This record gives sequence, structure tokens and C-alpha cells, in this order.
Amino acid sequence: MMKIRKAVIPAAGFGTRFLPETKAMPKEMLPIVDKPTIQYIVEEILASGIEQILIISGHAKRAIENHFDSSPNLEEHLRESGKLKMLEEINKISDIKIHYVRQPYQRGLGDAILCAKEFVDGEPFGVILGDDIVYTGSGEPALKQLMDQYDKTGGTVIGCQVVKPEQVSAYGIIDGTQTSDPNLLKVQDMVEKPNLEAAPSRFAALGRYVITPEVFDILEETRPGKGGEIQLTDALRVMAHMGNVYAYNFQGKRYDTGDKLGYLKAVVEFALRREDLGPTFKEYLKGIMEK
Ligand code: G1P
Repeated sequence: MMKIRKAVIPAAGFGTRFLPETKAMPKEMLPIVDKPTIQYIVEEILASGIEQILIISGHAKRAIENHFDSSPNLEEHLRESGKLKMLEEINKISDIKIHYVRQPYQRGLGDAILCAKEFVDGEPFGVILGDDIVYTGSGEPALKQLMDQYDKTGGTVIGCQVVKPEQVSAYGIIDGTQTSDPNLLKVQDMVEKPNLEAAPSRFAALGRYVITPEVFDILEETRPGKGGEIQLTDALRVMAHMGNVYAYNFQGKRYDTGDKLGYLKAVVEFALRREDLGPTFKEYLKGIMEK
């Protein structure tokens, strides 16, 4: 069985839920305190032991490439002003090797993944969507948890958690059967953003996948589905019908940073966890809540 060596980050969407902020700035660059969302994702991939990363970008996404590029003037300024710790931090980011491909038309997540076909080149690969950050503290990164399940099953693994009834219509929802591991389901079917009555469960795909390479042949045949877009969910359900697709209930606190409230929760909670900011920020929050 092949080891997972590659990961793909689809980041070509318009980010309409965050307009007007995302008019000229990619939503993946929205900061969680002082780090862009996409950097948390790249760090999760690296912490999972994957070094080959492809970002699928699109129009108005240059800021992402600039963020992971070297910045000679800034580096020189930090060196000259003795800000060596910050310089080290900046250098760490530009040392990460990232590949880019553009999705020419925004035809959906399935179409975006299809743009990774050449990069993936017949290997199983990881996917993390730009909107979903998972905090696992000292535990295993969420993507690594899925990779461990791939090592056990040899199949595609979809990262899932149970969501509230009113949230099922925002996600790909799993119809699965239990395996001997209570956190692992064998997927029988999957529905993209169903209404509550049609939802087979409340077990939702939350932006992390390990996918076997047959997905590309299937995506090439996949017609537009929900919302007129080519859906990754529709390709995964074809694979599930053929067998060997699993859904794993990963451990970790997940934030939907593409949603305004989810984004605010992420900023507040990540700030509270920081040694340099946490204690004073907590005092501040207490103070305004008492008013
Ligand atoms: C996408 C997928 C959906 C998944 C979700 C996770 O939807 O199509 O199946 O549950 O991401 O965040 P999007 O949120 O991009 O519309």
C-alpha cells in the first residue's frame, strides 16, 4: 500500500460569505490572531508528515503565493533591526515548498480537485479545505488521524463529526454502517447538503479527506450536481458504491472559519490559548461581559 506523501488545498472559491472583505483578499488569508487561516492548514499537513503540498488557487489569490514566498526586503529589515526571532518565523514560512495550480473556472469542489490530477500522479492523497481549522492541542493532527485509518483500511477516508440538525444542510452527509471501531463507519452512500428530512444521518464531512486516486476517473465523468457545481461528494458516493470508502469521527475542535460566527469563535479561542495574549485578553473579555 502506498504511503500518503501529497496533500491538496483547494483555495479557489470566491468567499462570498465574507464579502466585502473577500472582494480583493482571499478568504484563506483572513487572520486567526496574527496568522492567516491557510497557514494553520499548511502546518497541519506538515505536522502530519506530508511535505508535498499543492494549493489550487484562482483569480485574486496572489496574496497566498506572496505569503509563502521569500520577502527579501522584510528579511533584511528584520535582520538589521535585530528582530531575529521574527526573522526565523518568517524564514520558516518561505522554506515550505508549495506547488500551485489555477482552477480556471469555479465549477465546484470536484472540479477543483480534478485540477490536482497531474500533481497527485496516481497516489493516494490528503485534502484539507481552506475553511476548516481543527485544534487538536497535543493530540495527533486531524489529517494524520485520517492517514492512520487509511493505513488500516487502504480505502478513502472522509473526516467527519456529528453536527446539529439545523447544520446538516451545509455539509456532505454520510450514510454508513458500523465497523468494529466505533469511530469508523463504512460509507454506503453520501448526500451533498440535504435538507434535514432527507439527511441519512447527522454525520457530516468536515473538510478533511484521504482519497485514493481512482477519484480522478470518476470526477472526469461527474456531471454538475447540487448548486449546478461538480461536487466531490458525488464522486465519493460513486466510490462508496464500489466499496472501500470510510468515514472517521476525528478528535479535535473544529472551526468553520468561512462562517462569520465560526471565524469569530476561532479568533477568540486561539487568542485565549496564547501565552502572550491569553491572560490579558481573558480579563478584558470578563470586563466587557460584566458591563
Ligand atoms: C464542502 C463540501 C461538503 C463538506 C464541506 C465541509 O462544501 O462540498 O461536502 O461537508 O465542504 O466544510 P462547502 O462548504 O465548500 O460549500
